[in-house]
Amino acid sequence: MKALITSGGRGTRLRPLTHTQNKHLIPIANKPILHYAIEKVVDAGITEIGIVTNQEACEVVEGIGDGSRWGVNITYIPQEAPLGLAHVVKISEDFIGKDSFIFYLGDNMVVGDVKRFIDAFEQDSVNCYLTLSRVKDPERFGVPEIQGNRIVRVEEKPRVPKSQFAVAGIYIYDHHIFEAVNNIQPSARGELEISDAHQYLIDHGYKIGFSEITGWWKDTGKPIDLLEANRLILEHYEPQIDGEVDDKSFLAGPVTIGKGSRIVDSNIRGPVIIGNNTVIENSYIGPFTSIYDDCIVRNSEVEFSIVLNQCQIIDVGIRLESCLLGNDVQIMQAHGKPRTHKFMIGDQSRVELV
Ligand code: DAU
Repeated sequence: MKALITSGGRGTRLRPLTHTQNKHLIPIANKPILHYAIEKVVDAGITEIGIVTNQEACEVVEGIGDGSRWGVNITYIPQEAPLGLAHVVKISEDFIGKDSFIFYLGDNMVVGDVKRFIDAFEQDSVNCYLTLSRVKDPERFGVPEIQGNRIVRVEEKPRVPKSQFAVAGIYIYDHHIFEAVNNIQPSARGELEISDAHQYLIDHGYKIGFSEITGWWKDTGKPIDLLEANRLILEHYEPQIDGEVDDKSFLAGPVTIGKGSRIVDSNIRGPVIIGNNTVIENSYIGPFTSIYDDCIVRNSEVEFSIVLNQCQIIDVGIRLESCLLGNDVQIMQAHGKPRTHKFMIGDQSRVELV
C-alpha cells in the first residue's frame, strides 16, 4: 500500500494568506496542515508516499523534505496546473505502479486513524473505498447517492444533493482507478473530477466500499474551517510548559508554551498553544487560540484565533476574536493626532470594525 497526498491547487478561498504561502503549510495548532496528513498515513504503516505539488512552487518540497524525519520516503510529483483531482491521480500512475494506495487530500483533517479504512478496503476486497461524512452543506462537496448498502451515484458539487453526506478526501483504490481517470473527460469547470472517476467505476461494475467517518472531519477550504480545525485539534492537545510564566500570570485549562516564550502578568485560558520566543504581556489569551513563534502580544486580548510567525498585537483596546493573522502582521493602537484608523493591507484582506 502506498500513499498519494495533494498539496497543489490554488487555495483561492484562503486569500490573502495563500498569496504568500501554500495553504497546506499554514499551521493549525502551530503545525503545518500537511504534517497531519503525512502523520496519518505514516501511522497506518505506509512508507512510500507521493506528494503532488504545484509545478512552479518549491516551498512544499523545502518545508517537508525527503520524509526521513518520519522514517519514510517521499517522492514529489509536480502537476503542471490544478487540472483536477482525477488529473492528480493520472499523473501519479508511474509512482503508484500496480500497488493499491490511499489518496489523501492534504487539506483534509480527521480525528482517528485511517488504518481502519485500509483494513476494510482489504477485507471487503473492493476496488475503491470511499469515506463519507455527514455535513450541513453537501453542495460544497462530492455527494453520494446511496440505495440500500450501495453507492449508486456520485455527483460533484450538485445543486440538489441526493444525500446529506460529503465524500471526504480520504480514498483507497486499486489500480482500476487509472482506467477510470484515463477515460473521463474534463467537467464544465475544466477539471478532471474525482467524482466522475468514481462514477466511472460504478458504471463499469467495479466494487465500491464505503463507511461513515465517526468523529470529526474537516476540509480546510475556508477561513472558518481553519479556525474550527484549530479548535478541534486544541481540544485533544496534551499541554506542555517549556517557557516562563511569572507569578502574576494565571493559566487555566490546557496551555502549551514553547521554549524561550515568556508570559508576564497575563491571563491565559486554554486550550491555547503558544510557540517559541513569544512574549505575552499584560494580556488575555482566550480558548482555542494558537500563537506561533516570535510574536508579541502586549496590553491586548485575543481569543479563538490563529496568529502566525512574528506578529505584534500591541495596545489594542478591543478583544480580537475569530482572527487569522498571517506572518509578520502588526495590529496596534494609533498614537498622535488626528485619531484615525490607519491600514496597510494586502490584496483580498478583510477587516471588520465595530
Ligand atoms: O474535501 C473533500 C472534497 O474534495 C470532495 O468532497 C470533492 O469531491 C473533491 O472534488 C474535493 O473538492 P474540493 O473543492 O474541496 O477540492 P480542492 O480543489 O479544494 O482540492 C482538494 C485538495 O487537492 C487540496 O489539497 C488542493 C489539491 N489539488 C486540487 C486540485 C483541483 C491539487 O493538488 N491539484 C488539483 O488539480
